[in-house]
Amino acid sequence: MSDLVLHITGARPNFPKAAPVIRALSAVGVNQRLVHTGQHYDDKMSAVFFRQLGLPRPDYDLGVGSGSHGRQTAALLTALEDLFVELQPAFAVVYGDVNSTLAAALVAAKLGVRLAHVEAGLRSFDMTMPEEVNRLVTDRLSDVLFATSPDAVAHLGNEGVDPGKIHLVGNPMIDTLLANLENFDAEAARTTHDLTGSYVVATLHRPGNVDDSADAQALVKTLHSVADQVQIILPLHPRGRASLEEAGLLAHPRLRVVDPLGYVEFLGLVRGADAVVTDSGGVQEETTMLGVPCLTLRPNTERPVTISHGTNRLVTREELPAVVAGVLATGRATTWTVPPLWDGQAGPRIAKILRDELMSEASAR
Ligand code: UD1
Ligand code: UDP
Repeated sequence: MSDLVLHITGARPNFPKAAPVIRALSAVGVNQRLVHTGQHYDDKMSAVFFRQLGLPRPDYDLGVGSGSHGRQTAALLTALEDLFVELQPAFAVVYGDVNSTLAAALVAAKLGVRLAHVEAGLRSFDMTMPEEVNRLVTDRLSDVLFATSPDAVAHLGNEGVDPGKIHLVGNPMIDTLLANLENFDAEAARTTHDLTGSYVVATLHRPGNVDDSADAQALVKTLHSVADQVQIILPLHPRGRASLEEAGLLAHPRLRVVDPLGYVEFLGLVRGADAVVTDSGGVQEETTMLGVPCLTLRPNTERPVTISHGTNRLVTREELPAVVAGVLATGRATTWTVPPLWDGQAGPRIAKILRDELMSEASAR
């Protein structure tokens, strides 16, 4: 029986979550390999994270690429099944809620490979979000569930998950943020992007905001109203580019659209911002740590701890211009709290639990 731990990553948010877990497992001598499914493939959506976060080169690059949910998931299932059959891992470790996560969870469950889910238990209770479907299925199939917040532990308990499988470990995304904090240079970001005075950073890529042309037009109108008050810089995810540009995104002189940024450059820009407007999951967490006001353009969040503890609030398109005006007038809060165990040690906690699981399995044989 193998002692191999196989990490499955594939999309941008997976990489900052996997880096500290891989590093910590390496420190305790666990046999591990890294899979990149190829769900994201542009340099700025993928390779830049490997260069900046000290991630090892993937041992397997499956090159699955883009497609509809069905086609992409089917391609992921096929490629991952072949690899799992060849490697016979003892554990598969999956991250977050993307299609690569779901596919790896299904393959592991069908082949009887034990499954660990990092960032288990988050719930938006919004089944129109593809990520919510991915989270529910992945958690249902997991043997070891690593939660980032107490609400996630509670959701898993309510769904009947055995409490012995659930571990509140903190947030590996935050391990990565804290490990790189001194590299987030707000002044360098200002110089690079030629920014003077107040500015807002925006990131928008959720299907509910950008896919439909009426939504894209309404969003662009809102962003232009915000840009009437303050400069906006928008590192644009490839998903929204066509629909938002078609809706006239580029027409406002104070709204600057740039390509997706590297992790360090992005967080340098966020660190110096007066506010962030986003629909990203990870960005809600990062702004909570950096104390930057976060205005989330969504009707719900699977990360309520960023509201109860952090700097996040949910806003509608209609509310956004007035809310930005209020934030600019008030300035940043000088004190705020961060969620429990978001202390940079989630990776080592996860590594210890996984190593103990491997050892108890080996001694049971
Ligand atoms: C995926 C995740 C989402 C996550 C986001 C993070 C799923 C269901 N969704 O959404 O949860 O928040 O990643 O960034 O897994 N594309 C490129 N270059 C790339 C990758 C994608 O141009 O390197 C374009 C393609 O046109 C593709 C589209 O972006 O069809 C969407 O990519 P996909 O991975 O399907 O979903 P995301 O919207 O990126
Ligand atoms: N990010 C980045 N450059 C960008 C936008 C985002 O490096 O231009 C980082 C940021 O740290 C964020 C992570 O990518 O937390 C994943 O974000 P994304 O919004 O793609 O995914 P989500 O968290 O919404 O699933």
